[in-house]
Amino acid sequence: MKTTTQTHLFKNAIGVSQPDVSDEAIAAFQKQVLSFYERHGRHEMLWRHTDDPYRILVSEIMLQQTQVERVAVKYPEFIAAFPDAAALARAPQSAVIAAWQGMGYNRRAIALKKCAEKIVDEFGGTVPRDPEVLATFPGIGPATASSICAFAFNLPVVFIETNIRRVFIHSFFPDRESVTDKEILPLAGRTLDREQPRVWYWALMDLGTELKKHMPNPNRKSAAYTKQAPFEGSDRRIRGMILKFLIEKAPSREKAILDCVQEEPVRVRRILAALEKEGFIRKSKTGYRLAE
Ligand code: ADE
Repeated sequence: MKTTTQTHLFKNAIGVSQPDVSDEAIAAFQKQVLSFYERHGRHEMLWRHTDDPYRILVSEIMLQQTQVERVAVKYPEFIAAFPDAAALARAPQSAVIAAWQGMGYNRRAIALKKCAEKIVDEFGGTVPRDPEVLATFPGIGPATASSICAFAFNLPVVFIETNIRRVFIHSFFPDRESVTDKEILPLAGRTLDREQPRVWYWALMDLGTELKKHMPNPNRKSAAYTKQAPFEGSDRRIRGMILKFLIEKAPSREKAILDCVQEEPVRVRRILAALEKEGFIRKSKTGYRLAE
């Protein structure tokens, strides 16, 4: 993609340096992004074919830390099992964890169920349309709250997430290191297509994903850059193995779990204690099982 850059920097009222970008450059950027989306957008994604706020909330939590290809498989299964907030709220937590298998970061499954409970108990079964309210929900930070509002309600909210950030850094900060979100946000606000925020954010996310394939990750130039921790040898992997084992065979005694996991007993016991404390599993006389 051709870049619409102006490298001259100035400081705005709060002292944040920003590229001096003309209105014409903003309009050209908008045109490029939307034209990319028309030609190469991932229009087929199932969660782009609904405006049911519950279903969009589910997809956004899934997409936080799991690749699109995997979500594409799991999302329809999850929605079939729990078609609305009421169904998810009344389901046993163990069933939700089982349906989440293969997604990783299982805390999100518990958070998602708690979101459904909150929607039912506090909001009469309706997802609130306010990003500030949604950001108080378990597992929903400001970016996810905004993405839900953009995609479910077509609200012109201004937000940045990892793929969007990559587009802005690539297009407006090509020669910079440690670009902060504070520097990017004013541009995100100026470029936002207020007529069609839903399409605009789909387009930005798709372009950000495409850029990642073709260049060393420009997000390394972001002050917010963090790499996902390696999975091999991690506690995360062992947590996943234990949960999978207990989905298949419970109750299970510690000995059976140690035989399955094949890691240092001290480490496995520490992880079991953490899983119990976080409410994933329960220990009784007969052994460990998933918490209901
Ligand atoms: N489409 C809608 N939400 C998305 C997301 N979070 N990531 C990628 N594509 C999406």
